[in-house]
Amino acid sequence: MCGIFGYTGHKEAQNLIIQGLKQLEYRGYDSSGLAIQNGTHAICVEKTHGKIKNLEEILKKTPLKGRTAIGHTRWATHGIPSRENAHPHLDNHEQIAVVHNGIIENHFDLKETLESEGVRFRSETDTEVIVHLVAKYYKGNLENAVRRALKDLKGTYAVAVICSSEPGKIVAARMDSPLVVGIGKTENFLASDVSAFLEHTNRVIFLENQEIVSLTDNAVKITDIAGRAVSREPVKINWDPAQAKKGGFEHFMLKEIFEQPSILSAIYKERVNGLKVHFDELKITASKLKSIKRIVIIACGTAYHAGLVGKYIFEEFTKFPVWVDTSSEFRYRDPKVGKDTLVIAISQSGETADTLAGLREAKKKGALTISICNVLGSTIARESQGVIYTHAGPEIAVASTKAYTAQLMILYLMAIYFDQIFKTLSLGQSRVLLKALSHVPALMQEVLDMYKKEEKEWAANAHDFNVRYHEGLERYFSADPAGRKRSPNGFFLYLGRNINYPNALEGALKLKEISYIPAEGYPAGEMKHGPIALIDENPWVICIAPKSKTYDKMFSNIQEIKARNGIIVPIVTRGDTQIHKVKPLYVVEIPEVEEIFSPLVTILPLQLIAYCIAKEFGEDIDQPRNLAKSVTVE
Ligand code: AGP
Repeated sequence: MCGIFGYTGHKEAQNLIIQGLKQLEYRGYDSSGLAIQNGTHAICVEKTHGKIKNLEEILKKTPLKGRTAIGHTRWATHGIPSRENAHPHLDNHEQIAVVHNGIIENHFDLKETLESEGVRFRSETDTEVIVHLVAKYYKGNLENAVRRALKDLKGTYAVAVICSSEPGKIVAARMDSPLVVGIGKTENFLASDVSAFLEHTNRVIFLENQEIVSLTDNAVKITDIAGRAVSREPVKINWDPAQAKKGGFEHFMLKEIFEQPSILSAIYKERVNGLKVHFDELKITASKLKSIKRIVIIACGTAYHAGLVGKYIFEEFTKFPVWVDTSSEFRYRDPKVGKDTLVIAISQSGETADTLAGLREAKKKGALTISICNVLGSTIARESQGVIYTHAGPEIAVASTKAYTAQLMILYLMAIYFDQIFKTLSLGQSRVLLKALSHVPALMQEVLDMYKKEEKEWAANAHDFNVRYHEGLERYFSADPAGRKRSPNGFFLYLGRNINYPNALEGALKLKEISYIPAEGYPAGEMKHGPIALIDENPWVICIAPKSKTYDKMFSNIQEIKARNGIIVPIVTRGDTQIHKVKPLYVVEIPEVEEIFSPLVTILPLQLIAYCIAKEFGEDIDQPRNLAKSVTVE
């Protein structure tokens, strides 16, 4: 996810662009740049690696004049963070500049064609193909050249373009990446979200997919991909700038929870072509992969839970035995890995010290290493022999949500990719799985839509927990010490079975890390081996019980808890009538989903329960105490 910003009007553009990009820095911050049309209408570009303040420093020394400009703050997806890969990108004649947010899936083919026509590329990015296509089709009308170039693109884009032959004009377009126009007085703005220009105007037009906008200081013209005029009245935004950064959500965590369906859908589109899975950045050949006999997954925290789900996935789709380890344990054992082992290191940040150490240990022992990372060019990504990026965009909230489901999506696709190499499943089975997987983001969206509709009830239930929690503590501490036979109130048990067991761990982690309430995840089959001793009217037991081959066993566990007056909150498949026999306190229903893919759906209520309780308790949800987004120390 990157941030793009554009200005054309009566003011000097440079500082407006810098301020706008700073408002968008949460969308990406590994490099930034801007292109300005100066008085002679030539295009001047300044860009640099690192945060926006680096760009600001450069421009303080050599300011750029001009009243039409586009800017970009980058979250690298293709091409490591560097000055060459930073946006804007120029055509070979330096007459046209482009900034882009999104992923051009067919950029390899387009680059090949353009190079065969004599175009010289300067960067490793997918974006650069856009500026060369616009230059190729430019015949004196920028809007038409952009429209024609877009027809060659496959993928997602929010793109803004300026041209030295058309001073004062910005042409922009979007497809599955946000783009919004800000309407000013003798000035107009363009950005990835309203926070970038909200201090200047709150009259905005949200562009729709395949719409093209042409901006000058006093005109905004929208057309569709066929060139037909589109009329759209501006709307008034009443957000404060801080809220606008979160897209109108109260916290980044909730925003990132809601981003999950679109991110997973984008991952699927980028990685699956005609029901065939591909990982262009994975520089490991099929023959190399054929040398492995087993798989070891190492990670920490949420990424470790994703690895646990990965075990079920790989053992279901391939013939490989899989073992999963926390990186901090793996690195201090003498792990028996070697040339026949593939070690997969999962890390959102790509900088977690223990996972990096585990990766180095595995390489030292001769294992083949692949990492699944979100941050392009991160240390773990660079040091593993192969890397697959999740492209989930920057995850700002410390509590990981979208990175987790993006990791799971990559693991599903990776297992099917392996299967395409090792032919464990038939082609037909692999296609059926891919088709079912392609529908999962829509099922996730149904859960989020349900939450949006019932948001008030969820908040009321969280308040109800808060009241019971404090009443329980009162009861516990007011009883005479001899009478304290009860478990202290207000802790949570999360139970799951089979492929949903790791989500029990992940749901417990979400709750404890943002609300500081004790919570423990357990395989439900373990209840009778100890944890059931904790059950009385105090603990809250979240039971992950979707329709599955272990549902009956899960239902027996629920009845055992009920028999001891435990408070039960089951997550069940819509239409489950049996669950009401135990009269649970609340029931969360999810749409029916294939069991193997159910963790992608059952995790949503678990994330939302943690969010609602932490909000009820007034905690600092995005930056919980004692935690850091990336644990780069041991
Ligand atoms: C998850 O909500 C936590 N923030 C934490 O457990 C995190 O998953 C863990 O530190 C691993 O981080 P990584 O994915 O960046 O390696």
